[in-house]
Amino acid sequence: METTTQDKMKRGQFLRSLGLSTSTLMAFYCLGTTMTACGSKDDDPDPVDPNPNPGGGTGVTGTTTGGSINFTVDLTINSSLKTAGEYKIFGDVLVAFTTNSTYVALTKICTHEGNPVQYRKSSNDIMCPTHGSEYSITGTVTQGPAPAPLKTYTVTLSADGKTLTVKA
Ligand code: FES
Repeated sequence: METTTQDKMKRGQFLRSLGLSTSTLMAFYCLGTTMTACGSKDDDPDPVDPNPNPGGGTGVTGTTTGGSINFTVDLTINSSLKTAGEYKIFGDVLVAFTTNSTYVALTKICTHEGNPVQYRKSSNDIMCPTHGSEYSITGTVTQGPAPAPLKTYTVTLSADGKTLTVKA
């Protein structure tokens, strides 16, 4: 709202009628200026939301940790998993779309000391960068010190190709 000279006069006359001193009147004028500035800021468009998908927003529903793994992955949101050689971690589970264009899901927890493993595109296998253990995409140990295979999960692609279901 624009403040006209006529409005200021009316405001000043009103405040003087209350018996306020000149310095108090100046404070009101300054406050009015500040409030006007704040008001105009409210008219600015909202800044870009840094998290446009609040509430987790990973396109994953279900249980991704613990002993009852059972979740779905929306591939329209996690679209990198439609590219052969890509992988993502969901909770305790590594899901990869291998270079053979098959989906695999394994625990991300290395059987050596429990550090997170990674899918390795160049050799289509799983490796642990902490101490160098290697596993096949079926979880079998191919290089120690890992003492045991990785647990694997069943992965099912929906008929429309938009959803993965991962279960124990
Ligand atoms: S924690 Fe993975 S190799 Fe040691």
